Amino acid sequence: MGSSLQLFLALSLAMAAILLLGRLLLSWWVMPYLAYRKLKSNGFSGPKPSFPLGNLNDMKKLKNTDSTSSSLSTISNDIHSTAFPYFSQWQKSHGKVFIYWIGTEPFLYIADPEFLKQMTADIKGKNWGKPNVFKYDREPMFGNGLVMVEAEDWVRHRHTITPAFSPANLKAMSSLMVDSATNMLDRWTGLINSGHPEIDVEREIMSTAGEIIAKMSFGMCYETGTKVFEKLRDMQITLFNSNRYVGVPFGKFLNPRKTLKAKALGKEIDALLRSIITDRSSKPSTGEPEKDLLGVLLVENTVDGRKKRALTTEEVVDECKTLFFAGHETTALALTWTLLLLGLHPEWQNQLREEIKEVLGDGKMIDATKLGGLRKMGWVMNEVLRLYPSAPNVQRQARQDIQVDKLLFPTAPTFGSMLFP
Ligand code: HEM
Repeated sequence: MGSSLQLFLALSLAMAAILLLGRLLLSWWVMPYLAYRKLKSNGFSGPKPSFPLGNLNDMKKLKNTDSTSSSLSTISNDIHSTAFPYFSQWQKSHGKVFIYWIGTEPFLYIADPEFLKQMTADIKGKNWGKPNVFKYDREPMFGNGLVMVEAEDWVRHRHTITPAFSPANLKAMSSLMVDSATNMLDRWTGLINSGHPEIDVEREIMSTAGEIIAKMSFGMCYETGTKVFEKLRDMQITLFNSNRYVGVPFGKFLNPRKTLKAKALGKEIDALLRSIITDRSSKPSTGEPEKDLLGVLLVENTVDGRKKRALTTEEVVDECKTLFFAGHETTALALTWTLLLLGLHPEWQNQLREEIKEVLGDGKMIDATKLGGLRKMGWVMNEVLRLYPSAPNVQRQARQDIQVDKLLFPTAPTFGSMLFP
């Protein structure tokens, strides 16, 4: 009896081990390889990968070579080659569309707008999902916020959030933005006048953008909002330093301390946000909902005769985090590059100063309805975003095999389109 039990246990363990191995082989080898074969049959090539890192080592090597050879004394505006030297190198050998691997995950790199138009034309948006490979890694930052949700959930979230960005709402928030920007500029003037003219512009703008988004999100609860955003920024930096092995088998276990720190921060942030939401929800209603982002997310609509919020509390928490991450660094980076480029082109500084005087006048108050009249400012911002896109690529994954003319886009790979000229 004893020995048959032992045999049974041994067989069960062996079976479980075989099943686990089979599952790992399927997800690390068979599925990616099949997707790769389908992509190759479309005629795409790419750098040769190795198991289990894919092309990560080549990326690291090319990045190191580039950082030692490039010089910051000349500004070519070719940020793509500086930030992504491996993509530039592979473009030279494989063209503007090619396959590369991060760990055991195949990616299709796309830097050809015509190709992109062709592959997305007539295909319903819901057939393109958000990449599975980043879900675990981005969860503490975005949860199930807009950047991560798909299909009907995306429609529901988007429908709820859109009113927050109506021209009337943005106009109401413009004075908050002017206040924070004025404080920052006063600080800079103080530094210059005191004989310390060295200013870390990126850092200053990043913290001002954080302050603005905290006020936009929580209005009067801005103090607690700022605490949340300091923690969010800390989490972002921690995650950025810890997710070097996305796509590599067991990659999430390679930086356990940082991953755990990010998770712990995530929990603290969620708890802080939940307490802000509870405070707001328990405040006696004055009739008019608050106009800040949180107020918009908490609006109740009548469904089947009952007042109901479109988003659950967890979803509101996730949207608050999403708006911070999506809206804070993007804007701050765009403004920082703008100042750098204006520093290099004083003639454009003069043109913009003239335009601002003409359209908005000399006063400290800004009439937000007149901002649309700043045409040259628009040209400058567009050029900055063209040369230095703050969100340089957008990624999607087909939710089912998608056939476009003779091309087949299979489900497993992530399609990343680069927004560079
Ligand atoms: C220069 C500034 C900005 C740039 C370059 C930028 C860029 C982008 C890009 C490329 C996407 C598409 C991402 C994807 O679908 O995978 C996106 C989405 C998004 N952005 Fe921005 N963004 C900027 C400012 C902002 C601001 C200020 C906010 C909010 C306060 C914001 C909130 C969002 C949200 C919520 C999404 C998801 C939209 C959706 O899926 O429906 N962004 N942004």
